[in-house]
Amino acid sequence: MNRPIDRSLRTAFLAGALAAAVIFASLAAAPAGAQKFPEFSDARLKQGRAIWLATCEACHANDVAGAPLVTNKASWAPRLAKGKETLYQSALGGLTGAKGTQMPPRGGNDKLTDDQVRAAVDYMMAIVK
Ligand code: HEC
Repeated sequence: MNRPIDRSLRTAFLAGALAAAVIFASLAAAPAGAQKFPEFSDARLKQGRAIWLATCEACHANDVAGAPLVTNKASWAPRLAKGKETLYQSALGGLTGAKGTQMPPRGGNDKLTDDQVRAAVDYMMAIVK
């Protein structure tokens, strides 16, 4: 007697599970929380953002390595004051800060060209100033 109801319930459950799986898959595909970092129409900053998300975000958006966080503008003010060229050099060649925290050369990604590292710096400077 109640078989048809069972079947429709099962169908509804499966449809729900499928929808949940699709949502999880799309969440897993996007870099975690990427949408919270500003996007720019400028081509250079677009390129920089992609590089930054792939290599720099891990430290500069998460409090794991003592890196100055993009969410902490005050920590960036004295760094921005050093000027763009100095920040490029720190990003390309690495930097060990006074507290012993280490910015690895090229953010640890040897595959990045000098220009790509500079583009990532440009993006980070744009979002912390
Ligand atoms: C393994 C963690 C880590 C990664 C990945 C990382 N950084 Fe850093 N970064 C640091 C730390 C730690 C500092 C601060 C060093 C200090 O104490 O002055 C820093 C500082 C900086 C500074 C400021 C330098 C200065 O002269 O004050 C810039 C610019 C920078 N990083 C750019 C980048 C860019 C661009 C990338 C990606 C290509 C990147 N970082 C990836 C850890 C990281």
